[in-house]
Amino acid sequence: QQPVRIAPSILAADFARMGEEVRAVAAAGADYIHIDVMDGHFVPNITLGPDMVAAIRPHSDLVFDVHLMIAPADLFIEPFAKAGADIITVHPESGPHLHRSLQMIKGLGKKAGIAINPATPLDVIDPVIGDVDLILCMSVNPGFGGQSFIPGTLDKLKELRRRIDASGRQIDLEVDGGINAQTAPQAATAGADLLVAGTAVFKGGPEAYEANIRNLRGER
Ligand code: DX5
Ligand code: ZN
Repeated sequence: QQPVRIAPSILAADFARMGEEVRAVAAAGADYIHIDVMDGHFVPNITLGPDMVAAIRPHSDLVFDVHLMIAPADLFIEPFAKAGADIITVHPESGPHLHRSLQMIKGLGKKAGIAINPATPLDVIDPVIGDVDLILCMSVNPGFGGQSFIPGTLDKLKELRRRIDASGRQIDLEVDGGINAQTAPQAATAGADLLVAGTAVFKGGPEAYEANIRNLRGER
């Protein structure tokens, strides 16, 4: 089994120093950069747009994992692709044609992800499992960092792991929300191979990032 990969969410970074923050987590051992895009409509918070992605792109070679919490999502898929996203993930509720959104992402040469909210049934993935490179399982309701991990997520992760393995496809299983040193090993044991963490990575400032990431991997 591959070691778990860590995707720091820049939602918890210092927005006034974003280029440095992205460099610092890369130096501290991050695998992906998780970028939370919120529109104040699909979720009750507003974060950043394609210009921020373009601004930090020169600061990192890591995979940019862009999580779109916006509706409709389709309008912004191309701008985020052009700005430097490598993976673009959409929520099925964010537009009428999920398959079209995924095809649009693939058509731009990017990896496509589907995000599943805590109350979204897993069956939504069945018709599109052949079209996705990543499944993002939300372990909090989207909108804010710093929320508590919803324990029922562990059963969803196990079932998603089963379905991914049965598909025989190479699909990342990402978990997002409330990941810390306690919940990270639980999520990994349940089958997640990519852990998003905002608060747990950025707490304590740059001197702490390396230890924070090691803690999430279960290293000391
Ligand atoms: C929530 C976002 C998450 C969030 C994670 O809507 O999708 O990526 O920033 O933050 P923490 O790790 O603080 O729960
Ligand atoms: Zn996210």
